Amino acid sequence: MSRFFEPHAGTPNPSDNVSLSELLANPGRRTLMTSGSLAALASVLSLEGCASPAASGPLVGFKGIAASSEDAVRVPEGYKADVVVAWGDPIGDARGMPAFQWNAGNSAEDQELQSGTHHDGMHFFPLPLGSNSSTHGLLVMNHEYPDNGALFPDGMANWSLAKVRKSQAALGCSVQEIRLVDGRWQLVKPSRYARRVHANTPMKIGGPAAGHPMMRTAASPSGREAFGTFNNCASGPTPWGTYLTCEENFSFHFKAASNPTAMEERYELSPKVRFSFRWGEADPRFDASRNRNEPNHFGWVVEFDPYDPTYVPVKRTALGRCSHEGATYAICKDGRVAFYTGDDRAFEYLYKFVTRKPWNPNERAANRDLLDEGTLYVARCNADGSGEWVELTHGKNGLTAANGFDSQAAVAMYARAAGDTVGATKMDRPEWVARHPRTGDMYVTLTNNASRGRQGSEGANPANPRAPNPYGHIMRWSEEGADHAATRFRWETFILAGDPNHANPAVRGNIKGDIFASPDGLFIDPRGVMWVQTDVSPNVLLKDDHTIYGNNQMLAVDPVTREAKRFLTGPRGCEITGGCMTPDGRTLFVNLQHPGERGALGTDPANPRSLSNWPDYRPDGRPRSGTVAIRRGDGGIVGT
Ligand code: FEO
Ligand code: CA
Ligand code: CA
Ligand code: CA
Repeated sequence: MSRFFEPHAGTPNPSDNVSLSELLANPGRRTLMTSGSLAALASVLSLEGCASPAASGPLVGFKGIAASSEDAVRVPEGYKADVVVAWGDPIGDARGMPAFQWNAGNSAEDQELQSGTHHDGMHFFPLPLGSNSSTHGLLVMNHEYPDNGALFPDGMANWSLAKVRKSQAALGCSVQEIRLVDGRWQLVKPSRYARRVHANTPMKIGGPAAGHPMMRTAASPSGREAFGTFNNCASGPTPWGTYLTCEENFSFHFKAASNPTAMEERYELSPKVRFSFRWGEADPRFDASRNRNEPNHFGWVVEFDPYDPTYVPVKRTALGRCSHEGATYAICKDGRVAFYTGDDRAFEYLYKFVTRKPWNPNERAANRDLLDEGTLYVARCNADGSGEWVELTHGKNGLTAANGFDSQAAVAMYARAAGDTVGATKMDRPEWVARHPRTGDMYVTLTNNASRGRQGSEGANPANPRAPNPYGHIMRWSEEGADHAATRFRWETFILAGDPNHANPAVRGNIKGDIFASPDGLFIDPRGVMWVQTDVSPNVLLKDDHTIYGNNQMLAVDPVTREAKRFLTGPRGCEITGGCMTPDGRTLFVNLQHPGERGALGTDPANPRSLSNWPDYRPDGRPRSGTVAIRRGDGGIVGT
């Protein structure tokens, strides 16, 4: 067994999951499994870790780096960060591999065969299916939003349907086959797995909202088909080896109707929202005054199988509709599966979905529609450190027709309003959720909420203790009985981000070690290292009194001592996101999103004040979002 599986703390894994040692010691159980189930288990095991001898050294062993405002990716001494794929690179689809044009002159058709832009949530799926390979796999990632100014040689001038189509093709997801060759990760081109999913890809609708009149549109008369996914933010694998991509700020792609209902306004579908990605100007599907129900197809968690390029992605409406950040699974004691998901909006909620049936580790196909049935909950955090998962089920807890919910479809469609009805706790923008592989503790990044306590909005509450909260915090909780199906939990504030020496005690942080602000990306590796990625807005980074934070960064945090050590700093104007590792822990993939962004979405690349020219540094080029693979020069485990 590799050192990678040595635990840091002696706490046993409280779940009933099969451990790697158990699997190896019990070949009888192994023979029951299909290759597909082994793949799923491999994926679980790489995340869960297993029982093994005591730790032999500090959890975090690298030498932390200084804050930086350089236009570069910086990592600790002894490490290297190589670009694997950047926006516009052909992904290896056998139908065509058009090269990126440095002036961004590629067409929409080219873009459908190239890496999307604004790389975000990401996961490594080993190849072949059923293996635990750390040298060959599928790198699957989200492409969050378009910088329409950067996408075209002439920026946003001469706006047209052709420009909208390219903008739509730049979002969604990429499936890329990658292989480690002589210490460097390379795309396999062509690859039978290479696939782009984008804003016009045919999809199905599953769960309680499927077929509901609210889902019937001009493009989908049955309300059971949908077209596309976009604003895909964070993501998560399932135990059975599929990928969940999460639709976040979908409303900005729609031109709102002039007479929105209160429920539509609850989802920012309102003419009062002035920002738009301008799709509705040229594509009537995105003009809600002409296609009122089309926005109802977005704001969901979408599942697809990266190992099957023909898989039609499914919108899993049972998980509720909101600005989904990500979806993080945890296995319940009885084998059902819980998925935790944040709604990244100020004063929005934290959700949990628990499947009705247990997952089947022995037959991969049996899990195909597991996400269509189950129970949705929303979190309520009490002042004494206790908390409840309040059920969002039609007919319960006031979710009745009299209160505007005539069905479970309505509860799912308007999950935010359902959360209001049951008195959920208003959080400071819940972003990523992570599960500690040994303790089972859960963590959520609450990235910031400068509005809390301002202009008549809600002030501090126990779980969101600062008003305003410009720097964000991380909350930790544990489910009752260490069971992810529990409806009660205990919570605490894990870290208050921001400067511990800040002059204003109301916003002062309590970080030990290297400081950071606006935690967003979050995952805990199999050794128990918490990796925190920051997303301080570019306009905030540029303010003089915030320059001490430098560019956005990634830190390693010890969940026991709470000490933070800076591991990576990104290029100028970008956020750090999308962290994931190979099963052996020797490669860490990280996404660098929107280098050069100055705060206004839709920047014009011809703007000579562009902050960044990463990763190409070509005078005739433009900044590109991209993925880096980080490895130790000696091939050792990242973070040790
Ligand atoms: Fe897309 Fe909430 O970050
Ligand atoms: Ca995010
Ligand atoms: Ca963010
Ligand atoms: Ca982002």
